[in-house]
Amino acid sequence: MSKSRLKKLLLFLFHGKPKPVYAKITCLEPSMKLKGKKIVVTGGGSGLGYAMAKRFAEEGAEVLITGRNIETLSKSADEIGCKYQQMDIKDISACDSFLEKADNLLGGINCLVNNAGISLHESSFFDVTEETFRSQVDTNLTGTFFLTQHFAKYLIRKETEGNILVISSETGITSDIRPYGYTKAALNSMVEGIAYMLAKQNIRINAIAPGITASQMTGKDPNGDISSKKEMLGRVYLPEEVAEIAAFILSDAASCLTGQTLVCNNGKTINARVK
Ligand SMILES: NC(=O)c1ccc[n+]([C@@H]2O[C@H](COP(=O)([O-])OP(=O)(O)OC[C@H]3O[C@@H](n4cnc5c(N)ncnc54)[C@H](OP(=O)(O)O)[C@@H]3O)[C@@H](O)[C@H]2O)c1
Repeated sequence: MSKSRLKKLLLFLFHGKPKPVYAKITCLEPSMKLKGKKIVVTGGGSGLGYAMAKRFAEEGAEVLITGRNIETLSKSADEIGCKYQQMDIKDISACDSFLEKADNLLGGINCLVNNAGISLHESSFFDVTEETFRSQVDTNLTGTFFLTQHFAKYLIRKETEGNILVISSETGITSDIRPYGYTKAALNSMVEGIAYMLAKQNIRINAIAPGITASQMTGKDPNGDISSKKEMLGRVYLPEEVAEIAAFILSDAASCLTGQTLVCNNGKTINARVK
């Protein structure tokens, strides 16, 4: 019997059947608050990226999703009613041609959501290898940095206002022993620096740092068991909860917000004096 099954069996024997955990979430009535926004969502074929792309489209935005897997992209784009373009975020040399294609497909771009990312869940500090280190840095940090740089140049060239959102993580605001957290901490720093540099050009950049959210990355099924003792509410988050915050940040209702990392984990990582 596997360790996790044995743990479940012991918990059942000592505490009886666990109570089911539900997520009671509220999504605001769509109000076309993203009308006129032309949004690229990297990694938009699945997980958080999919939920955000869907929410943005419901709010009146024109959306283009990217990723490596063309079948996933085409199926998701069909469901959402958006455009798609295959792209590997690690391929820095393709940034300009990608933006040109996306510009053609959307008729201009004014928002970029840097969501594509990987977590290799090494079991410990000692299990990190050069390969796992490099691939997380290449995808989460290097890829996001250069796509953001090329997009900022694009906006400046076109003399267009713009909005950039980075999907960071709660691991980026705490200390870590794995590269995943380091990539997210670096992204938070990038967000503050670029925000200050580009604020006067009406280019905003913010980050969302979600807590553990149900997706392929965490192996938690949003329609299955979402319980988690580690989380403040006894459950992991749903991609739709992150998408709701993302839609607000990209909207003009958040026009005074830049350089911020909004941590979406019900205060789990607050270093409080009181317990
Ligand atoms: N789930 C969580 O608990 C959680 C918490 C905090 C932050 N986040 C962040 O949220 C973001 C989305 O994660 P998720 O949970 O939704 O995971 P996911 O379901 O695994 O989605 C990751 C997405 O990124 C894309 N991607 C990965 N590598 C790529 C590459 N080299 N080039 C282009 N696209 C790539 C994938 O598409 P392809 O495979 O088709 O390329 C996929 O659509 C990540 O940045 C993650 O770090 C997640």
